[in-house]
Amino acid sequence: MFDLERFISDCRTALNERSPQSAIKEIVARAVAHPSAVEQALGTPQEAKLVTLHQSPELTILNLIWAPGMSIYPHDHRMWAVIGLYGGREDNIFYRRSAQGLVQAGGKRLETTDTTLLGQSVIHAVTNPLSQFTGAIHVYGGDFFAAPRSEFDPDTFEERPYDAEKAKRLFQETNERPRAQTAP
Ligand SMILES: [Fe+2]
Repeated sequence: MFDLERFISDCRTALNERSPQSAIKEIVARAVAHPSAVEQALGTPQEAKLVTLHQSPELTILNLIWAPGMSIYPHDHRMWAVIGLYGGREDNIFYRRSAQGLVQAGGKRLETTDTTLLGQSVIHAVTNPLSQFTGAIHVYGGDFFAAPRSEFDPDTFEERPYDAEKAKRLFQETNERPRAQTAP
């Protein structure tokens, strides 16, 4: 079974390791290796949401539910991040800064039970390409909501300060939008 309090305390303890991000990647990998247990503890995904499971100056743990077809514009974190999936799929597109602005620099598809570690300079955009919900645990090596960072216009790549409230609204507005029709 997945015990959320235990998971949070394991992640907090791992902050004392020489490489906290590697230790936390293992903890997340162990958790999402049993996706149905995580889903049982966090709830079956039924709407897009961003839930803060833990927030402190040195660690943030989020539960993200991506609605079918949902995307978030490019952004950076400026801290390491561990992502683990317990349902669905996340398509990550990576970007790097260049003299001409932001340029695409590869991608990574994450499937259920996959875990990945993103370095602190990573800039990415995320899409759920499926017609079902995607459930993810994201762990960040700092205070995800307090640290200043950037987001980028998805069309022009214009850089601007990251707006955490806007990101939260994106999840809410996704739920208010009518669902795309499925095939008859
Ligand atoms: Fe991100």
